[in-house]
Amino acid sequence: MHTISKIHPISFIKGMSTALELTNKGISKHHLETAIISYSIAQQLQLSQTSLQTLLYAALLHDIGAASNWEEKHLIMHNDHQDSIFNHAESGYRILKDCRHLNVLSIPIRYHHDRIAGGNPSGLRGQDIPLLSRIIHIADRIDVLIDANDHIFNQRNKILDYISDSNIFDIDLIKVVKHLAKTESFWLDIVNSSYQNEFLSDLDFLGKLMFNNDELIEIAEVFSKIVDETSPYTASHSKNVAVVSSSLAKIYGYNDEEIKMFYLAGLLHDLGKLAVPNEILTIPGKLTEKEFDLIKQHPYYSFRILKQIEGFTTIATWVSQHHELLDASGYPFGLKNDKISLGARIITVADIFCALSEDRPYRNGLSVEQILQTMTMMALENKIDSKLVNYICLNADMILNLITKKVIPPFLKKQC
Ligand SMILES: [Fe+2]
Ligand SMILES: [Fe+2]
Ligand SMILES: [Fe+2]
Repeated sequence: MHTISKIHPISFIKGMSTALELTNKGISKHHLETAIISYSIAQQLQLSQTSLQTLLYAALLHDIGAASNWEEKHLIMHNDHQDSIFNHAESGYRILKDCRHLNVLSIPIRYHHDRIAGGNPSGLRGQDIPLLSRIIHIADRIDVLIDANDHIFNQRNKILDYISDSNIFDIDLIKVVKHLAKTESFWLDIVNSSYQNEFLSDLDFLGKLMFNNDELIEIAEVFSKIVDETSPYTASHSKNVAVVSSSLAKIYGYNDEEIKMFYLAGLLHDLGKLAVPNEILTIPGKLTEKEFDLIKQHPYYSFRILKQIEGFTTIATWVSQHHELLDASGYPFGLKNDKISLGARIITVADIFCALSEDRPYRNGLSVEQILQTMTMMALENKIDSKLVNYICLNADMILNLITKKVIPPFLKKQC
């Protein structure tokens, strides 16, 4: 197994940004395109490398506050002037302000819809609004105005008209955009997928800063909370799965770095649920086939997002298989027996244990006896790994204690 040593932040942030792009029809590119436009503007302003880095990371995550709420997701992608547009900016600030590796992004994100003439809930106006927020604001609105069904050149005038409102946008930035708008390349770079692909790989900023496993865990915890907030029934599901999978990995004899990978995988295993509308996740009964089809997308998207992060191949594989069953009746690949990795089997049993212990819209959380009975039956039916179920049975009280009393396993205490 390849353990993770160090990962460049842009690789991880880009992956997490893609998670924010999930819709029920696939992956959009709003954050990426906003980052590309912001970058073009910032180059004209000759920002320092440090500011440029903060700007791009903030642009890549700017709508993080809307990710778990589909009503908000819809609102921000439609160009209206409702005051509720500020809600997700404030939520984004709150989500990021206490994460020591991302808190530098919280301020630019907090004010990214503030209008230059004032009247904002923040009370800020004019040059008091941080420059990076002003850049993301104009870049964001340019991108929202682009109609993917029409050629970008046909839309230039309509977009320039809209962003010329000096009550909303910074007059200096309007001038910069109007200057950039004279070149075809400015417009083509926003929508050309081959440039989009190379855009982030070309950025090196400060070069040396790298995240280790402990730092990745802290950032992944932010995203796991966003995923868990998509439904009131999963309030701490991802964290629970992280705790139980890493505890099982410890019992199984994995080393410390591998155990941390299980913790990371647990935190991120349901990342693809950001593609499933809130109302599907809270239906109080049996789902229709169509509704269940939407749920079945989530391990696929978790996999595709994590796979693009350098060093995450093993984690991505485990996560991709966490709904596969040994008799090939699982999803999304329909894998059978030894085609399902041991790492995935560990996450699967941890996921089932946690899910059964938690309330769901259609039932209350089960008792430990009921959980073990259900899991033993699944092992007998060749659905899940019987050896792992045996470990669960032998350590059930300890495992339940970890999740109900929010006990941090000793081997993880350092970074949590
Ligand atoms: Fe926004
Ligand atoms: Fe946006
Ligand atoms: Fe899942």
